[in-house]
Amino acid sequence: MVLVAPSLLAADWRCLQQQIGLVENAGADWLHFDIMDGHFVPNLSFGADMVRQMRPISKLFFDVHLMVADPLNFLPMFANYGADMLTVHYEACTDLNAVIEAIKKQNIKVGISLKPQTPAEVLKPYLEKIDNVLIMTVEPGFGGQKFMPEQLSKIKTVSELIGKRDITLEVDGGINTETARLCVANGANVLVAGSAVFKAENPSEIIRQLHLSGENQWQLL
Ligand code: DX5
Ligand code: ZN
Repeated sequence: MVLVAPSLLAADWRCLQQQIGLVENAGADWLHFDIMDGHFVPNLSFGADMVRQMRPISKLFFDVHLMVADPLNFLPMFANYGADMLTVHYEACTDLNAVIEAIKKQNIKVGISLKPQTPAEVLKPYLEKIDNVLIMTVEPGFGGQKFMPEQLSKIKTVSELIGKRDITLEVDGGINTETARLCVANGANVLVAGSAVFKAENPSEIIRQLHLSGENQWQLL
């Protein structure tokens, strides 16, 4: 089954409640929060208060993508405010094991994200401890960028590394109904989509199509 995680970064922030209701009613599975600190990535977005304020208005699984340097200090705040999973960047952690343990201590799920240049193999020591891998298919920092097709072979390698383990394989950046099919063909099963959903004329239809990304894969051959 393919899960769809609309990214709030691309939503119309003037009417967030309506935007979240829209994707929730359309059958979105997760809500993706992009947290940027201006250090790990060259952009700022929003902080834990966004999670806190949105928690009472949505039943969706809150998927928090922390693009912040040294995330350790922020973890309890996000967990207390209602995050269901915290995904941290491999490149941002000086002691990734300590960060994983700190997230688990909050009784929520934990993920590791890799920037485009980071090889899949770095995940090996952590595979028994995590719930999610997030492969960036653009350089993190901005929505609306073009999908990097060279990440497809990495997605496949990660999928093989995961094997039968109960770990979701999420892709993020430039995902639309076409690139989603390529990612799913290579083993992805969670699709983050910002612009493709929220800038669409009919977001519900895009979510419906993203859910079908695993169908008729023979057409890609
Ligand atoms: C980029 C973020 C993405 C972003 C995706 O750093 O991690 O989640 O919102 O946006 P689109 O789908 O527009 O590429
Ligand atoms: Zn993201």
